[in-house]
Amino acid sequence: MDTLVIYYSIFGNNEGIATNIAQAKNYDLIEFNPGTMLRVFQFFLRKKRLAKKAKQINIEKYNNLIVCGPIWAGKPAPAIIKLIENIGIKDKNVSCNFTYTQNYGETEAQIAESIKKNGGISKEIIFWNIRDTEEA
Ligand SMILES: Cc1cc2nc3c(=O)[nH]c(=O)nc-3n(C[C@H](O)[C@H](O)[C@H](O)COP(=O)(O)O)c2cc1C
Repeated sequence: MDTLVIYYSIFGNNEGIATNIAQAKNYDLIEFNPGTMLRVFQFFLRKKRLAKKAKQINIEKYNNLIVCGPIWAGKPAPAIIKLIENIGIKDKNVSCNFTYTQNYGETEAQIAESIKKNGGISKEIIFWNIRDTEEA
């Protein structure tokens, strides 16, 4: 199987999306979990640690990567930004799914840019508004 779905999720929405994609297509699935209880604080801190953790994941055998994660403060969560920068996406097809509740600013262009800058091939970038499901 040459597609890996990788997700970062605090409240479970991205876990759900990633799991659905992986199950429907029989893709491999992993969580990018830098392993601290206070993961939201990575919003401010711990970016070095995120980069280090991302570098430890070996995706050599995959041609396609599907990244799933939340929008925080108008941008992808730092874990997702660091993942794209450090996991080693050179020559790989990269698609993204982002969940948000209100807005996601200029994210689409920024992410496509970051994927290209890191040597990857930017494919689909999909935004899911989860407000309705969160309120339900
Ligand atoms: C620190 C923080 C900042 C957030 N900032 C935004 C934002 O700027 N725009 C937005 O639409 N949603 C924002 N949200 C809502 C998240 O996008 C939402 O919680 C997330 O998509 C849920 O994904 P998850 O269940 O996989 O963690 C924020 C959430 C957190 C925790």
